[in-house]
Amino acid sequence: MTDSEKAVAAAPNVTDSDLYVSGIPHGRLAEIRRTPGLAWHPYGDDGFWAVCRHSDVKTVSKNSDTFSSAIGHTNLWDLEADALEARRSLIDTDAPDHTRLRRLIAASFTPKNIKRWEQTVRDITVELLDEFAATGSGDWVDMVAAPLPIKVILNMLGVPLEDADYLVELSNYLVEGTGEQQSIPPDAFGNTTELRLLPFNSPASHALFEYGAKLAEQRRRDPRDDLVTALVQAEDAGDRLGPSEFRNLFHLLVFAGNETTRTALSHGAMALANFSDQWNRVLTNPDLVPSATEEILRWATPVMHMRRTARTATELAGTAIEAGQKVVMWYSSANFDETVFADPHQFDAGRSDNRHFAFGGGGPHFCLGAFLARLEVTVLLEEMIKRRMVLRQDGEPVRAPSNFVHGVLSVQMSTVEVSPQ
Ligand code: HEM
Repeated sequence: MTDSEKAVAAAPNVTDSDLYVSGIPHGRLAEIRRTPGLAWHPYGDDGFWAVCRHSDVKTVSKNSDTFSSAIGHTNLWDLEADALEARRSLIDTDAPDHTRLRRLIAASFTPKNIKRWEQTVRDITVELLDEFAATGSGDWVDMVAAPLPIKVILNMLGVPLEDADYLVELSNYLVEGTGEQQSIPPDAFGNTTELRLLPFNSPASHALFEYGAKLAEQRRRDPRDDLVTALVQAEDAGDRLGPSEFRNLFHLLVFAGNETTRTALSHGAMALANFSDQWNRVLTNPDLVPSATEEILRWATPVMHMRRTARTATELAGTAIEAGQKVVMWYSSANFDETVFADPHQFDAGRSDNRHFAFGGGGPHFCLGAFLARLEVTVLLEEMIKRRMVLRQDGEPVRAPSNFVHGVLSVQMSTVEVSPQ
């Protein structure tokens, strides 16, 4: 521990995965927010600066020259240099690599291009909601929140329908890989790569890489109106995605487009059931759908933190940071910062000026899929309104033991009211 770290109070533990089985440790995060300057959080043999105030998260997010995504890793733990290189995708790069990669794919995710997928999102949502309503009760995660985003992203990528179940299976193994237990052996799916070189240490990543490469090859020969075709054809000033860039990006899209939105749709449904006065407000005034969507994203905070590493010695909130130290932004704290959000633990479907950081605190890495995620939450709300669907939560959810994704493994819900369509 250096002198600067000794001078500050140690943060209460917010990384222990077991804490998250009972939800975000809001009390501990609030304590860190109230600590003057930054608090040093021990982690493994070292530690990190815990950045918990809304204003400080924004400063770190926007200063990518000082706070690097490419040095080390964007998760808490460090990776060996070869593992970092093998896994590196858009999210773990800095300018100019980041600018180049992001420019190659950004066009596919603009509001205009995402809007083209609205009918697909609606068709999938309608099918799942109607099935849930017909059954009357069940695991909302399994029946609605999990299948919706994965079906959407597979459709957009152009994965043939007959392969969808296989890809859903792979993506579920990846989600499992964010926790501490894996249910498949290292050589599953014919994997021969050392697990430490694969995203989430999962053999399912190997299978996903292989699948992505095969699909890209097909689309090069036979272009279609889908995202994989757009990615293999993406060109900017003569520049194209290289094979390993494509493979890591395909992997990132399947994962990022899946687990995060699933989490938003799970916490969203629980909030609508438990704050029934707020859902009634939306049912009687559908103009509140946009603000309810943003409130669901704030409330859910599906990604709870992202790490950066100080490129040079710097200072934040009056605390000296040394070059090479880890700086971790806690969105799960910033989104409940009482200096920014009035009554932050109240779910307010009409909340105005909702400057949440569910998609990051701004800056170059701001979530590429934000418009798509918003579209999925919005369409779900619109289709629930059409059906006058009122949900009840039956018992506690089973939460993921993860300090990274605010995951819900299962939650039993019932339809209290629903009108036939
Ligand atoms: C509710 C759903 C989602 C949440 C909460 C979420 C959250 C985030 C966060 C926190 C980041 C990092 C921001 C930063 O470091 O500054 C991020 C990056 C990213 N997200 Fe999302 N995301 C969601 C949905 C999606 C979807 C649907 C896709 C794509 C299909 C997607 C693709 C990406 C990509 C590619 C990046 C990396 C961007 C970059 O590094 O330039 N996300 N997301």
